[in-house]
Amino acid sequence: MAKRVLILAGSPRKGGNSDTLALEFAAQAEKKGCQVDIFRPADHSIHPCMACGRCWSKDGKPCVQEDDMQKLYPLLNQADMVVFFSPLYFFGISAQLKAVIDRFYPLCQDDKMDTFSGKQSAFVIVGASGDEDSFEPAIATYDQLTDYLNWEDCGVVAATGLWEKGAAAKSIWMETARDLAMDLGEE
Ligand SMILES: Cc1cc2nc3c(=O)[nH]c(=O)nc-3n(C[C@H](O)[C@H](O)[C@H](O)COP(=O)(O)O)c2cc1C
Repeated sequence: MAKRVLILAGSPRKGGNSDTLALEFAAQAEKKGCQVDIFRPADHSIHPCMACGRCWSKDGKPCVQEDDMQKLYPLLNQADMVVFFSPLYFFGISAQLKAVIDRFYPLCQDDKMDTFSGKQSAFVIVGASGDEDSFEPAIATYDQLTDYLNWEDCGVVAATGLWEKGAAAKSIWMETARDLAMDLGEE
């Protein structure tokens, strides 16, 4: 069966640098026989976690909030691999992507964690700076998250030096994005 890859494309800038790299990765993953879903949180209504503690209390749904996370939860559950793409915003991931990750909370309850753990993942973080150190806080967040979820990391890319929209398409990071998908299956 085809590997299901879910791309969480965290930028609010449509067609921006992380979107461009996400599409390059997706095209290569599809060539490798994967079934790829791309979800851009910025195109949806995703509210922050309210810490209400009412996970799973309404109609068997993970969360009581009736927003577009209800569309994303099934995709998350079906995914064999989750690939996070984000712009670097003040040394962290975008607020849009962080809101999605916080809403993983119901899937991390004791009796649900077995189902949600054991996926593969990768992370591409895109910023203007040429200083790799400034990407470290975002990478540390990803590392801790995947460790907590018991997901197998398949690669981290800090795409430095990308500022204006369109920069990624002319950059060496296009090849890196393709390479990230190289081992995903047989062509
Ligand atoms: C609110 C905001 C904060 C940013 N913070 C950083 C930063 O801390 N470090 C950095 O290198 N670039 C920073 N940038 C630049 C973006 O990361 C860069 O333009 C990136 O290419 C955007 O990716 P996108 O086109 O996928 O949205 C910031 C941009 C914005 C709009």
